Amino acid sequence: MTTPQQVVLRDAMRRLDMTRDAFADRIGCRRRTLDTWLLPDESSEFRAMPEIARRFVQEILERAAPRSPDSTQSVYNDGLTADAGGAMRHLLSVEQFDREGVEALFRLADVMQPIARRRKVTRVLEGAVLANLFFEASTRTRVSFGAAFCRLGGSVCDTTGFTFSSMAKGESIHDTSRVISGYADAIVVRHPEQGAVTQFARATYVPVVNGGDGPGEHPTQALLDLYTLQREFSRVGKQLDGAHIALMGDLKYGRTVHSLMKLLGLYKGVRFTLIAPPGLDMPSAIVEQAARNGNAVEVRSVPGPGLANVDMLYATRIQKERFTGESIESLDNRFRIDRSFVEANCAPDVVLMHPLPRDSTPGAIDLSTDLDRDPRLAIFRQTDNGIPVRMAIFAQLLKVDQLVQKSMRDATWTAPSQVGPEDTLE
Ligand code: NCD
Repeated sequence: MTTPQQVVLRDAMRRLDMTRDAFADRIGCRRRTLDTWLLPDESSEFRAMPEIARRFVQEILERAAPRSPDSTQSVYNDGLTADAGGAMRHLLSVEQFDREGVEALFRLADVMQPIARRRKVTRVLEGAVLANLFFEASTRTRVSFGAAFCRLGGSVCDTTGFTFSSMAKGESIHDTSRVISGYADAIVVRHPEQGAVTQFARATYVPVVNGGDGPGEHPTQALLDLYTLQREFSRVGKQLDGAHIALMGDLKYGRTVHSLMKLLGLYKGVRFTLIAPPGLDMPSAIVEQAARNGNAVEVRSVPGPGLANVDMLYATRIQKERFTGESIESLDNRFRIDRSFVEANCAPDVVLMHPLPRDSTPGAIDLSTDLDRDPRLAIFRQTDNGIPVRMAIFAQLLKVDQLVQKSMRDATWTAPSQVGPEDTLE
């Protein structure tokens, strides 16, 4: 079974860190031709890549210089997150990943795309059960983990909220984790306390995935953010190495930006501009780690200035529910990102991202809906990419990654070619 051409091409561009223009030039085809090879099979403009081009791409990859040791970061592995052979046992932190680990996961996510687009189906996880344990509010993370597991052929048992769980009766994390391990083959946990998901993992041999641990980390969100960002950059001709990234909003309690900043540290020469209201700054340990990596970090408390050369602006919601004495009175209107803010401060080819949910109530200081039809806004491509990325994570954890491609069959139902009005740029 040959690897789909889109997977081969995207993987090659990621490994060579090349834009579409540079890659088209390298393999001697027109950019437009490369674009048609990258489209989903069902697109009317899709074209098959000639075998000779596939062989040439393979040859280029074989000849590419091996990566210098400084392009990867040390792998977080205290014996809990990886097995003796180095395979992932639990997904607790982005610190588990080096650059090759990210590339392997994204290659697998690309393989999942036709299933995520409802063109293909697979049953590789038939009979497996996921326990989706959410002790904190969630919509997209909980549903997309569940949908990802179902699209691999598994089934999902959900529990939501503290009140209806035995933890409200004083049960320990250890006991809950051990009990659930007797029922399920994978466990996703979201919990309001930082470190609680690691405690879950310590009590079980069943794979545990961190779905957000209080103000700590949200590794799967950062992975899908990075996967999306790379696809956006590839389209607009930008590279991750040397990119200028702005993170804006509640950087103290926003766990998605904690994981994302750590993960972006895997790329060479990334520059960060961090913009947070007073008192809601990025934790110093994460800033210091970036500085040790050699990333330039600029800290600002006023949005606007310094964004003109930013390649990606990532906004986060103010996490009022986590405040411990901070005041939102001082919150500046300038933290609202709307069309006029972007026109006044950002480059015309900036990529705009947000993990969602955004506060869309009138007057809210968050990402405005007036940018929804703007092609620079990638928020719904981010949410869509939650499915293939989380499918890839489950496939790796349950060791079915090698089986997915050959198990695929055509879907029997007809899915809409677009899932939403703002849809998918490729
Ligand atoms: C975020 C979260 O829960 O950390 N949402 C998400 O999972 N996509 C961000 C937030 O709550 O603001």
